[in-house]
Amino acid sequence: MSKKKHSPKDNGTPATHREASGTGGASAVSRRRLIVGAGAAGAAGLALGAAGGAGGYAATRGEAPTPLTSVGSAEAMFHGKHQAGITTPLQARGHLVAFDLAPGAGRGEAAALMRRWSAAAERLMSGEPSDSRGHDTGVALDAGPSSLTITFGFGRTFFGRTGLTSSRPPALDPLPAFSSDHLDAKRSEGDLWVQIGADDALVAFHALRALQKEAGSTARVRWQMNGFNRTPGATARPMTARNLMGQVDGTNNPEPAESDFEERIFVPSGGSSAYAWMAGGSYAVVRRIRMLLDDWEELTVKRQEQVIGRRKADGAPLSGGSEDSAMDLDKTGPDGKLLIPGNAHARISSPEANGGAAMLRRPFSYHDGISDDGTPDAGLLFICWQADPFKGFIPVQRKLDRGDALSPFIRHEASGLFAVPGGAAPGEYVGQRLLEA
Ligand code: HEM
Repeated sequence: MSKKKHSPKDNGTPATHREASGTGGASAVSRRRLIVGAGAAGAAGLALGAAGGAGGYAATRGEAPTPLTSVGSAEAMFHGKHQAGITTPLQARGHLVAFDLAPGAGRGEAAALMRRWSAAAERLMSGEPSDSRGHDTGVALDAGPSSLTITFGFGRTFFGRTGLTSSRPPALDPLPAFSSDHLDAKRSEGDLWVQIGADDALVAFHALRALQKEAGSTARVRWQMNGFNRTPGATARPMTARNLMGQVDGTNNPEPAESDFEERIFVPSGGSSAYAWMAGGSYAVVRRIRMLLDDWEELTVKRQEQVIGRRKADGAPLSGGSEDSAMDLDKTGPDGKLLIPGNAHARISSPEANGGAAMLRRPFSYHDGISDDGTPDAGLLFICWQADPFKGFIPVQRKLDRGDALSPFIRHEASGLFAVPGGAAPGEYVGQRLLEA
């Protein structure tokens, strides 16, 4: 039977809350008061009153002034054992960008770029201008850090270009081909990968633009994808996200509180010395998965639920209970048939069906307009994190490829595999342990 699990709604590295800068900032604390709805937790449970707004403060009567813990004021830490953006709660807005090193740029240029990018990321994530020389674009002025995270990774080709192939871990071996792949090479892989997430679209764009400018002549954008999730505060209480098929998506993710979470998601220290630079890091598999929404929406809700094995309304398993109930994979109905069908997506992808293989799914939805044939170019920027793709994505996708009821309604259009090193210690830049070994 599947273990009882919770959603990734609060799976994270804690974001701290600080006073928003700009209009209504610290100076407004004495004039404005905090309203936090009963049972509200963190930024997602915030209730903004009429006097809320840009500065992130709302008014009530008769209480001591308190700074408002607003969406804008939440700050994720740049330094730490792991990079931010892996266990950080899903943000409302995301950009995924792959860069290729420019011809002639090698290890030295790459190291200088990672130093510049890390310095910019630290400033941006704390809500400061991107550029200490005063060249900031101003796009994020007035906004707080808004849970901005910037996460850096290296693709397989990075190691050849920088003369570091002896430090390239076997976990970066190319993913196998899957029968259902329709991959576009131009939108796949890349030397460097950057994941940007924020709860404000301008803050996210600001970071994207700043990093692109810092790349200068060292690296060029290979591909970019833009995504979104539900905005914190849009639901009455923090809830698991929904995807563009309308399903509650993320329920049965591994959780940081679980004893095996670290070893499943992050690379341990003490492995081979050639790959010691990956200690505290994780491997990200990125797949742009288009949803064939016209076909999906033709199905009755009952049929849609059988495809996944969970109820659409609340994400509860078809074997009964609520969203957090364990899936009972053996339970049958009065007709003797399995309540969670044999080809249901949640059954086939579960650790029980894959020798314990598990990954942390942390996606963004995307919508890139309407295609020439009139169908929406929309779906999931599927990102999953694991200590080893051979014990996470690869065996699970192999199994899904052979018989997932969801397959007729999706199409994998782009793919990337990236080694995301551990977090930088103070004074260090991301990837320093690789580039300066
Ligand atoms: C557009 C494509 C996909 C959609 C719409 C989708 C949707 C869902 C939904 C609704 C669930 C059930 C709720 C939950 O536990 O999160 C689920 C579970 C899961 N999915 Fe997917 N999924 C997609 C692709 C993938 C891919 C490519 C993989 C990995 C290769 C994957 C792995 C998993 C895993 C591991 C679970 C949890 C199973 C469990 O332990 O119960 N999914 N997915």
